[in-house]
Amino acid sequence: HKDLLDVSQLTVEEANHLLDTAEQFHEINQRPVKKVPTLKGKSVVLFFAEASTRTKTSFDVAGKRLSADTFALTKSGSSLTKGESLKDTALTLQAMNPDVIVIRHWSSGAAQYLAERLDCAIVNAGDGWHAHPTQALLDAFSLRQHWGRDFSGKTLLILGDILHSRVARSNVILLNKLGAKVRVCAPRTLLPAGVNDWPVTVYTNLNEAVQGVDAVMCLRLQLERQQAGLLPDLSEYATTYCLTARHLAMAAPGALVMHPGPMNRGLEIASDIADCAESLVLTQVASGVAVRMAILFLHATRKDGGSK
Ligand code: CP
Repeated sequence: HKDLLDVSQLTVEEANHLLDTAEQFHEINQRPVKKVPTLKGKSVVLFFAEASTRTKTSFDVAGKRLSADTFALTKSGSSLTKGESLKDTALTLQAMNPDVIVIRHWSSGAAQYLAERLDCAIVNAGDGWHAHPTQALLDAFSLRQHWGRDFSGKTLLILGDILHSRVARSNVILLNKLGAKVRVCAPRTLLPAGVNDWPVTVYTNLNEAVQGVDAVMCLRLQLERQQAGLLPDLSEYATTYCLTARHLAMAAPGALVMHPGPMNRGLEIASDIADCAESLVLTQVASGVAVRMAILFLHATRKDGGSK
């Protein structure tokens, strides 16, 4: 593929190939000297029109570890603030002849819009509520370290603000491809209208949802995306949906805890659970570097001629 827009475009074999490639880069990341010349001479633009700590930094680290040149553009430091359109911004970036543009944008479909218009590879680093494929891939990479390559027989609960979550949408697709059973749990107001058509079991009661699961992925309550009047009462939300030790005791023994970050500690995840031995929160961050190295490698060196 020229671009990585969502995990829905990947076959199981392609997803596993990407994750296998990431294993090699993960090994490099454990060495005292982590830089390899693999992408020397390639250039990667990090175009982040929405805030990011993990995704932007780990793509930057990933590119530099592979010896690519990375260039960052954020909304506040760009001519987007002067009203320049997404298309003109992207064409301007392409005129500098990068090999890959990594884009995060508030608008669902922004990555696809660029992919259809530009010759260089477009990697979606999160578009609106739609998709966050690199997050789903790094989450799968983190789970692989505990579950192995085949997730069949495993059940993962995605808990929290499903409605606004591109992480949930991409994870539901990829986890199903890899053989896991997926549950989602949220108050009705934070479940998407079409959730009953998703390949998941839907819960509104956390005590029921958590029974016997092998992992719980907590999601941030996206306070900045709530529509007027629909924001739940935060203390009531925390009382009902914050993952605590009491809930984890109802999950399978040794159940893993995940959160894509950034976390609202005490709102969707209890602070002691975020830091517990079973928490993969920082493993997910480390996985992000290896997975994004694999993504940059596969897209900057692709041999399909770059057809749009
Ligand atoms: N998980 C994630 O996408 O984090 P950032 O918004 O900090 O990149």
